[in-house]
Amino acid sequence: MLLVLKHNEDDLGREAARIVGNAVRRRAALRLGLATGSTTLGMYKELVRLHREEALDFSHVLTFNLDEYLGLSASHPQSFHCFMHTHFFAHVNIPAANIHIPDGSIQGNYDQYCRSYEEAIRDAGGIDLQILGIGRNGHIGFNEPTSSLGSRTRLKVLSQETIDDNRKFFGPAEEIPQCAITMGIGTILEAKRILLVASGESKAAAIANAIEGPITASVTASALQLHPDVTFIVDQAAGSRLQQQEYYRRVLEMTAVLTPDRL
Ligand code: GLP
Repeated sequence: MLLVLKHNEDDLGREAARIVGNAVRRRAALRLGLATGSTTLGMYKELVRLHREEALDFSHVLTFNLDEYLGLSASHPQSFHCFMHTHFFAHVNIPAANIHIPDGSIQGNYDQYCRSYEEAIRDAGGIDLQILGIGRNGHIGFNEPTSSLGSRTRLKVLSQETIDDNRKFFGPAEEIPQCAITMGIGTILEAKRILLVASGESKAAAIANAIEGPITASVTASALQLHPDVTFIVDQAAGSRLQQQEYYRRVLEMTAVLTPDRL
């Protein structure tokens, strides 16, 4: 596990984009797992800049988004489809056919649909690099506390905490989705490399529990301790409750000397 501590959210976004950009340069047909949420905005902004100003080419990249609200069509302004198009896809050259986002408008045959999403990932050869945010309750994707650590893509009922956190994005009269389609923890753990971004004091407990706490379904991000190649990029506030900051800093220094390709 690598922990990269950044001064603020802007630095964090640039660092995440640098890692994604390098991965695309190394492998043009990168299979990229994507996340939504305000913490990812700086990364998308910088990736768009790299595309426009430094000719970063996404034309062979395949993308798979983590999750989508159930009951929202792709055109709904609060859908993750809309988020992705507004902040990323509309500004880079990923062919539409290469973009995969769970379809929140499906009705019925949910298991079959979720299986087909898993198959699409498998048929593509698996995910090379998975981007993650983290919820205040330690969720990744929409894998709420008590999700099975072996779970695959499926329907998930959202916790009250997550519904409350999302209320700010919806109008006062709008109904907030109660369920989502999300990749499972088992799905996420199969990615070759994982990059998790977190910013702000409200994420400090989740980050400390995920990295230094026990592996537990009560904090689904703690399952990342089982993965051999995870990088956490956090700002000062989100990293403030970590006990071993000094050790992580030394690990980073030695990694830069011994195995710089990991950075
Ligand atoms: C939602 C998404 C998560 C994301 C989280 C954090 O719950 N399903 O994938 O990590 O939001 O969002 P934010 O970065 O806005 O705090």
